[in-house]
Amino acid sequence: MNKCNPFVIQGYKGKTYFCDREEETTRLVDYINNQVNVTLFAFRRLGKTGLIRHVFELLKSNKKIVCIYVDILGTNNLTEFINQLATGIYNAFPPNKSLGKKIIETIQSLRPIISFDELSGNPTVTFNSARQEQQANTMGQLFAFLDQQNVNVVFAIDEFQQILTYPEKNIEALLRTQMQQLKKTTFIYCGSNQKMMHEIFNSAKRPFFASCTNLYLDFIPKEKYVLFIGKTFKRYKKTITDDAVDFICEFTMLHTFYTQYFCNRLFTKNIDKININDVKTTALEILKVQEPTFYQYRNLLTVGQWKMLKAIAKHERLYQPNAKDFITTNNLGSPSMVTRGIEALLTKEMVFYDTAVEKPYYEVYNKYLMRWLQTK
Ligand SMILES: Nc1ncnc2c1ncn2[C@@H]1O[C@H](COP(=O)(O)OP(=O)(O)O)[C@@H](O)[C@H]1O
Ligand SMILES: [Mg+2]
Repeated sequence: MNKCNPFVIQGYKGKTYFCDREEETTRLVDYINNQVNVTLFAFRRLGKTGLIRHVFELLKSNKKIVCIYVDILGTNNLTEFINQLATGIYNAFPPNKSLGKKIIETIQSLRPIISFDELSGNPTVTFNSARQEQQANTMGQLFAFLDQQNVNVVFAIDEFQQILTYPEKNIEALLRTQMQQLKKTTFIYCGSNQKMMHEIFNSAKRPFFASCTNLYLDFIPKEKYVLFIGKTFKRYKKTITDDAVDFICEFTMLHTFYTQYFCNRLFTKNIDKININDVKTTALEILKVQEPTFYQYRNLLTVGQWKMLKAIAKHERLYQPNAKDFITTNNLGSPSMVTRGIEALLTKEMVFYDTAVEKPYYEVYNKYLMRWLQTK
């Protein structure tokens, strides 16, 4: 029996450890097979990257499809973006196959510096040209080259909203133009920041408007998660009572990372018959361990923002931040102060605003912080 913790909290470890997402997987595979460009929206830590990894794993056996994944969260400008894409391409093709050799030759003909990442040992491609036309040209050549090969390419660009922070202003137009010319390449644009992603894809004045099909990733349904948790413990000859699983789902509000993390911690305790008291103890322990981080958050926010955060946590889901009742009970000052406070918390990603439901609401992002604030 596998000794590693079956509740994965980092990366993707295979379909045995992956809960549900069957419908989304089918849809995504279908889009890829039909070369439909997709935007994948969801809150942070809900499972976007996991879903892409899962789908790419399934497509691995298809020799006609090459999947390339790049995460651009760490990039700050067009040069870094292109370097990241080139690195993704460079690493996606096995260098011992003829196509891999061709790709490497093509990249090398563009004269990059190829170095090795100190930690992972993976090759990193860096182009040094400072001129924007030159950079765009490099990107165009790479895409065009890929598109001429006898394979379909799927390009997943994770944390795509990051392009809005680049100093170059025409990057969307540039990308869109190049994307349009490709015949055998499908793009998956993935992003957590709802507002920024909407700005790129749903604004009629922008280059990407109406260029992709939107896929919203929702919370995993409770019945699916309950089954997954029970089944996973059972594989290790452990049982968990229904009320204990219910408690976990409720405590973490089914926000994937927090649910996974909870079960991961619980698993390490090596209890054979898990009951409600065990999960309550685990909950308290998790909050205790995270407490120093919560105090750090407090130091990073203004007194007003912290008070606002606490008020939102207590409401769990806040529908009307400008309601008189809410403002006076929580002593938040004027409606304009509330508006500014919420704006700041949204920007800092301490709070999210869910607009994909009939009645939009605000909620504290970090479920453990939310539970901890509720006890204060
Ligand atoms: N369907 C799933 N089943 C089990 N664990 C998942 C699932 N989706 C995501 N995870 C785990 O949850 C955490 C957050 O998921 P991630 O894909 O990184 O979220 P996002 O990219 O939306 O921020 C990761 O640790 C990942 O391993
Ligand atoms: Mg991610």
